Amino acid sequence: MFLVTGATGGLGRRIVRLLRDRQTPTRAFVRLTARYAELEHRGAEIFLGDLRHEKDIQKACQDVQYVISTHGTGADEMEIHYRANLKLIEAAKANGVQHFVFISVLGADRGYDDAPTFKAKRAVEQALQTSGLNYTILRPAGFASNLLPLAERFRQTGIYILIGDPQSRTSIVSTDDLARIAVDSITTADARNQIFAVGGPQILQRQDIPRIFGRVFNREPFLLNPPLLAFDGLRSIIGLFSPKTQASLGTLRTLLANEFFCTVAEIERLEAVFQIPLETLEAFLRRHLSV
Ligand SMILES: NC(=O)c1ccc[n+]([C@@H]2O[C@H](COP(=O)([O-])OP(=O)(O)OC[C@H]3O[C@@H](n4cnc5c(N)ncnc54)[C@H](OP(=O)(O)O)[C@@H]3O)[C@@H](O)[C@H]2O)c1
Repeated sequence: MFLVTGATGGLGRRIVRLLRDRQTPTRAFVRLTARYAELEHRGAEIFLGDLRHEKDIQKACQDVQYVISTHGTGADEMEIHYRANLKLIEAAKANGVQHFVFISVLGADRGYDDAPTFKAKRAVEQALQTSGLNYTILRPAGFASNLLPLAERFRQTGIYILIGDPQSRTSIVSTDDLARIAVDSITTADARNQIFAVGGPQILQRQDIPRIFGRVFNREPFLLNPPLLAFDGLRSIIGLFSPKTQASLGTLRTLLANEFFCTVAEIERLEAVFQIPLETLEAFLRRHLSV
């Protein structure tokens, strides 16, 4: 039995679909308020719970051999990204889980001090590495699926808003490839107890994204490019009313201010270990958008 946390998220949903396509027994950890009917129709066992509750985590791990942790949230990093994963690792150990796949983030090891999510991810990576469990840690770049709503907006308006340096580099990854890599981590011998940077096959500049949208929709992009300083100003104002939100925005600022791309060597390693030809952003968008 596989346990997938974050099963209703952009990545988790794809992982559950893939497991069920392969007829693999799968338990999807979902919240009552989430949209999980599709997962149920595909034959996943639905476990209703909340990752903030340790008892739910312990119960969900019963009779499980494999855990894929994909849950996340833009806020509450301490509870969801950090504590829930530590409890999941503990419960996995107690239940004799054979392999634990953790979705971290590219750059988790760079020590970004202003980014609570990155710090939580690194702490969880370290806990997993010393847990005694078999593990695979995946550090993905930004997900292509996150761009789908922006692409739809671009289709209507032709406008693309890019905050910060348009030349900073990124390796947007096909969320479908990442789902496959996460699932195959369990059966791939060379993935055991390894950390992988996961990105797409091309190193893009952020300004390439509106150009790709332009090609996909055959429309000239109009780029709005506010400087990072504008974001910082807004963040300071928010801080006057909600210091907690201001702190949370540190992760977003880190994402906007830094480069997140995989080296050619990292991509070659990924393709060789998982025997996967990685999909470009443009191919992903064309496959998902009716154009
Ligand atoms: N998106 C990216 O570009 C990116 C890049 C690098 C790494 N990552 C990491 O990859 C993972 C997957 O990202 P994603 O974009 O697929 O995430 P997502 O779409 O935001 O989904 C998050 C999932 O976590 C669940 N969740 C949140 N709080 C929960 C709670 N208290 N109890 C139970 N479930 C809870 C959500 O459930 P509900 O449906 O009920 O809200 C949802 O299923 C995350 O760990 C993220 O940090 C993402």
